[in-house]
Amino acid sequence: MPQDVQLIHSFKGIPFPTRVTIDQLNSLDRFEAREDDVLLVSYPKSGTHWLMEILKNLYHYRLQGRSVAITQPLEFQDPAKIHELRNLPGPRLIPTHLPQQMVPRKLQTKNCKTIYVIRNPKDTAVSMFHYYQRNPHLPKVDKWSTFLDMFLKGEVVYGSWVDHLISWERSDNDENILFVYYENLKKDLPKCVREISEFLGVRVTEDQVRDVAKKSSFSEMKERVEREKARPDNNHTVCALTSDRKLIFRKGAVGDWKNHFTAEQNSQFEALLREKINSSELASNVEY
Ligand code: A3P
Repeated sequence: MPQDVQLIHSFKGIPFPTRVTIDQLNSLDRFEAREDDVLLVSYPKSGTHWLMEILKNLYHYRLQGRSVAITQPLEFQDPAKIHELRNLPGPRLIPTHLPQQMVPRKLQTKNCKTIYVIRNPKDTAVSMFHYYQRNPHLPKVDKWSTFLDMFLKGEVVYGSWVDHLISWERSDNDENILFVYYENLKKDLPKCVREISEFLGVRVTEDQVRDVAKKSSFSEMKERVEREKARPDNNHTVCALTSDRKLIFRKGAVGDWKNHFTAEQNSQFEALLREKINSSELASNVEY
């Protein structure tokens, strides 16, 4: 892609990749919500694909072998094809990176179940920095210090990490939201799978929990993607930033930020985000 192509634009004050068009963002309200829709919400690079793999495998049991319908991200629907979503059997799993205020009210008033994945913003920033380097739909930012500065000011795709989390934490539909920490998934995946299945009302046996955890391990997911042939039907991700699944799996680790942040950058993080983090219970619970 030529360097001069504009890759980022702003909509309602939030930076978006130009891959997500203004037409798509203006069409959000045309989305027809259903009671049994399940929203998977995350700030980019927080473990969206991991969570979707868990949900997909859980619903495989609930639907007795039928594959659950996973839609394109909410902000990446083709406005001309919105009616096709009507024909999908429920429950539909709908991923999105949108902050709460941009999600159509209909989806929130229908009491749809929502799962929000949270990841330590320091690891999220590192993951996003590498993603910016490798993803042709995002601008190249060569220096980590420049990127961190942008991240802390919320000048990256989907805006500020802490504002995004707070927007969902303060949603009125909070009894239908489950917040899941990436770090807890790493610590005890079967326990998180049990919690998620309970929240969704999907009954699974202990053997099935173990199977879901195995299928969604980093090594299994990465290997599966690497084995995939480049077929058009494989070009489907749950994130509007790319359709290339090979770009998603990097290290899948907790604490990689320690290999990137200097002591000074850690102080910069504290200076710019600490006040807002302290105002959010969910953000305060992250192990920094
Ligand atoms: P890293 O870049 O730190 O490796 P998203 O799906 O929201 O784009 O998030 C991508 C991040 O989640 C990447 O982080 C990716 O490696 C990590 N990830 C994806 N699947 C994972 C898994 N099964 N276990 C642990 N991390 C996973």
